[in-house]
Amino acid sequence: MTAIDFTHRVAIVTGAGGGLGRTFAMALAARGASVVVNDLGGRFDGQGSSPGMADGVAEEIRAAGGTAVANYDSVATRAGGEGIVQTALDKFGRVDIVINNAGHLRNARFEDIDDDTLDSIIDVHLKGAIYVTQPAYKVMKRQGYGRVVFMSSAAAAFGNPQQAAYAAAKAGLLGIMNVLALEGSAHGIQCNALLPVATSRMEAAMDPAQLAAFTAQYAALGEKLGSSYLPEFVTPLVVYLASEACSSTQAIYSAALGRYARAFIGVSEGWAGPRDNPVSAEVLAEHFRQIRDIGQYSVPASLSDEFAIIERTLGH
Ligand code: NAI
Repeated sequence: MTAIDFTHRVAIVTGAGGGLGRTFAMALAARGASVVVNDLGGRFDGQGSSPGMADGVAEEIRAAGGTAVANYDSVATRAGGEGIVQTALDKFGRVDIVINNAGHLRNARFEDIDDDTLDSIIDVHLKGAIYVTQPAYKVMKRQGYGRVVFMSSAAAAFGNPQQAAYAAAKAGLLGIMNVLALEGSAHGIQCNALLPVATSRMEAAMDPAQLAAFTAQYAALGEKLGSSYLPEFVTPLVVYLASEACSSTQAIYSAALGRYARAFIGVSEGWAGPRDNPVSAEVLAEHFRQIRDIGQYSVPASLSDEFAIIERTLGH
């Protein structure tokens, strides 16, 4: 087993002042990375700011013998994203790793989502990841090396009530990841997305009934649960995806309760109708079972790859 080592690597972890981000920053630093510990230092719902959270984790890393600098910029503005990357360049001279982790949570039923919630969620999760990754990507491209991890969510990949705005933003990250992985592949840049599960302060934004249902599901695991709900159980996957050893790009992974798995968007074998005239909706309905059947499926690696798969199906 080759040890994963980040000596001479520079990592940016956004939202690293607590929760999952803190454990990512600590783990990367413990393995030799110089880390920019970014955190706006606000509340779980995005209100307020303070330098204390980023300072605390940067200090924790230094006390453990690691190298870290705190940064307090908000990822949710272009200037903030550039400031975070500039901090890495000023202090450490390069950027090898970006972990897009910063975010806040405001849940609401779909019909109640107002513009303030929509804007703040899209700004921090979706635009924030772009604002940080774009300047970092330019540096990575010059270097010919980079690793980018996007913290998405099972709420986006699979759905979760009361999280339409959040899920839309997190699903956007899957789209960015797919495209950036393709654009970055010629430059040694690999991108992946994660669907993490860990207890965190974000639970404060959740509907009490939904939180109680989750808690009951956890409790039903009994002794099998152990302490697997802690952020530290997500961290090994982030460390691997951020490493030179990582062989994956353009993929989505789930890290939940000590179970690590790949999630993917696939296309069923489907049903091909005649090509001289479009079929009626009624004929389509007759074949709907076959269209939906996922007994056989493909996982396209790009839009044009899906086209090649369609061509194969039509050739049958
Ligand atoms: P958290 O609230 O502890 O961590 C988020 C951090 O981002 C906080 O420290 C916060 O101050 C920081 N932040 C918020 N807005 C910022 C901004 N504009 N600029 C810079 N920093 C900012 O919550 P947690 O659970 O650790 O979440 C980390 C990431 O993982 C988030 O993106 C979250 O959406 C995602 N996630 C978490 C899950 C979980 O089960 N905990 C499930 C799915 C996704």
